[in-house]
Parts: sequence; C-alpha cells; structure tokens
Amino acid sequence: MPTLLHIDSSPLATSISRELTREFVKTWKEKNPEGEVINRDLAASSLKPIDQNWIGSAYTPAEARTPEQVATLVSSDELISELEKANEIVIGVAMHNFSIPSTLKLWIDLVARNGKTFSYGSNGPEGLLKGKKATLVIASGGVYESGTPAAAFDFVAPYLRTVLGFLGITEVNVVTAAGTAQIMMGAVDREIFLKPTLDKVRELAA
Ligand SMILES: Cc1cc2nc3c(=O)[nH]c(=O)nc-3n(C[C@H](O)[C@H](O)[C@H](O)COP(=O)(O)O)c2cc1C
Repeated sequence: MPTLLHIDSSPLATSISRELTREFVKTWKEKNPEGEVINRDLAASSLKPIDQNWIGSAYTPAEARTPEQVATLVSSDELISELEKANEIVIGVAMHNFSIPSTLKLWIDLVARNGKTFSYGSNGPEGLLKGKKATLVIASGGVYESGTPAAAFDFVAPYLRTVLGFLGITEVNVVTAAGTAQIMMGAVDREIFLKPTLDKVRELAA
C-alpha cells in the first residue's frame, strides 16, 4: 500500500509551510485513494532530546540491551518504523535562524541510528532507507536564491538534502515559499503570494 509520511515542524497556527503540506497531502490522497497517510506533527510532540543514556542505548547491540535501554529507544524506534513504512515523505519546514526548527533537528537525531538507518562499511557510510522519495516544503521570511550572496545563509535545504542523503533518501524535491515576511508586513496578499507555490506542490504530489 502506498504510504505517505507527512511531517510538519512549524509551531505557528498561521504557518505557511503547513498550508502547503496540507495541499500536498490532499493531492496525494486524491491520487492514492487507497494510500495511508501517517501524520507526525513535531510542534505538537514532546520528544525528549537525546542524552548520554540514549546514545549509550543506541550504540549497545540490540541483543545486549537492558530493558531500560530498550525503553529509552521506544520513541526513536517508532519514528524509524514510520519512516521505513513510508515510500513518500513530505516535510514542512519553517526557516528558524537560518536553519530548521529544533523539533525537526531532534527528529533527525532520533531517526539517524547506526545499524538501522545508516551503517558504516568498508566503503564508508551507507544509507539504509532506500527507494523513498522526499519533498521538502520550506517557508522563509527572506529570500535565499541560489547564485546570490544570500544563498550562503541558507542552512535549510542544503542541510536536509545532506542528512536525508546520508540516510539513503537521495530523491529529494524542494519547494520554497521564500519572502513570507512580505505577507506579514501586509505588502502582498497571502493568497496571491502562495498561488504559484501551491501549484508547484500539487504538481509534485500528483
Ligand atoms: C523563531 C523564528 C526565526 C526565524 N528566523 C528566520 C531566518 O533566519 N530567516 C528568515 O528568512 N526568516 C526567519 N523567520 C521567518 C520565518 O521563516 C517565516 O515566518 C516562515 O514563513 C516560517 O514558516 P511557517 O510560516 O511555516 O511557520 C523566523 C521566524 C521565527 C518565528
């Protein structure tokens, strides 16, 4: 069964990235009526940051883990199994301080597990999440177009492409709603601003 993992990370109710991922999911559902959508709202979750105990548990071989160590990894196991189940992933991302929301970074820390989502062999690191397609839907207040000096301040798409690639997800589309500060300032109408991006999102989901 086709499965879409839908992740949102913006903490705002008026979020632009959320409006765009909603449209992605709607179009995907129309195209895959029998498909399953797994929703993972990172802004609404209370995932615990990784700590010494978590790292010790993750690096203890599965068969040698104590019941406490097994329990420590429950959230991570659940998030990884959502990823493994999905053949498509859409991630809504709000640019925060030139990078991704901390909740999304935590999700990455929890799903990047040696022996589960990546491994190190004689040829170096190998991503274990194969055959998946990801779409990143990024909203930013400013504009960071490639080829311009501002692009050097964008640590969102380059970082996410790198880390997803490290996990084996190399087919990554990026849709950007850049310059959303104009909406906040009342300089542009939200609907008019978002129209081309919504069209692009529908195209990628279909
Ligand atoms: C805490 C915070 C940090 C932000 N940092 C940046 C930034 O570094 N660069 C930028 O262009 N916009 C920044 N913005 C603006 C957001 O990227 C913009 O509002 C975007 O639309 C957020 O996505 P969302 O509407 O899905 O929440 C920031 C907004 C917040 C709330």
